[in-house]
Amino acid sequence: MKPLNTQVLQADQSGITQAAQVLQTGGLVAFATETVYGLGADACNDHVVARIFQAKGRPQFNPLIVHVASVEIARQYVEWGAEAQRLAQAFWPGPLTLVLPMRKDSGLSPLVSAGLPNLAIRIPAHPQAQALLSAFGGPVAAPSANPSGQISPTQSIHVRNGLGGRIEAILEGGPCQVGVESTILGLLPNHPITMLRHGGLAQEDIEAVLGRAISQRGEQDPLSAPGQLLTHYAPNAAVRLNATEIAEHELWLGFGPEDAISGKARKPDLNLSPTGDLTEAAANLFGYLHQLDSMSGTCIAVSPIPRTGLGRAINDRLQRAAAPRDVVL
Ligand code: TXA
Ligand code: MG
Repeated sequence: MKPLNTQVLQADQSGITQAAQVLQTGGLVAFATETVYGLGADACNDHVVARIFQAKGRPQFNPLIVHVASVEIARQYVEWGAEAQRLAQAFWPGPLTLVLPMRKDSGLSPLVSAGLPNLAIRIPAHPQAQALLSAFGGPVAAPSANPSGQISPTQSIHVRNGLGGRIEAILEGGPCQVGVESTILGLLPNHPITMLRHGGLAQEDIEAVLGRAISQRGEQDPLSAPGQLLTHYAPNAAVRLNATEIAEHELWLGFGPEDAISGKARKPDLNLSPTGDLTEAAANLFGYLHQLDSMSGTCIAVSPIPRTGLGRAINDRLQRAAAPRDVVL
């Protein structure tokens, strides 16, 4: 396909109006959310939804998250219940995606849910994402704005490097504050609430609102996030986790106070959070993996990261980055 001239739009009123027009006329617009940049398309337009898969080189069977401006709009597309209402009230707009039964009259392109009867939906908190969704008015299907198999973009330059020439526009929205993708929860009738993907909202915060523990996704789970490739987040270099000894040839991605990991002759090349703050580490994660990857080392060694709060999402993404390539979860 002939390369497109990808416009970079400033996120002022005129840029947002132009970006909404690109969506209305069946184009692809990358935009910032508080988690990562999304590659947005009109979720009712089969043709442009198909172009998302083409632009990302993404396997067709992986369904997309629909982004909307309000709960009222969300309810036009999914069967809404008391628990969805409670979670939405507590966490929307924000880094939480709910998977709910799709309404029969949703009018969405079937490609959005990859033919599944359930739909993933969220209201993003980033002001520019909200402005774009309000200006457009309808549902926007948006996966992370990276070529399939690469790290999610947390800055517009990552999007330009990965998808420039393949999409109509990028709405400049600055660096993403949360830095890892949204937490995905499955809410199906007659089924326990299930964690489908750890992400920017901690499991503990969700459980505090629900007043009970949520289930983890099982192998046989009907909601098993379809086609989640284990290597989804892979940088080009190999990744080694829980590294307590660092070899000379390795790039070192540290976590926590450096005196705690000293006794070593060298310092980490980058430190996700010198104070051991998991929220800061999540925000830095993909940006630092991008940076280390551009240092053209062959192996990235990562210090141990606690598996609590956002540490679960960070460890999950790092495990995917470290997995042997082309393994399917
Ligand atoms: O933070 C985010 O969630 C970002 C921003 C742009 O919103 N989006 C994002 O989308 O991470 P994506 O496509 O990269 O990841 C969406 C995940 C996929 O693993 C997909 O399998 C799962 O959501 N998913 C989508 N629809 C689903 C459904 N109906 N049932 C189960 N899993 C679903
Ligand atoms: Mg993605």
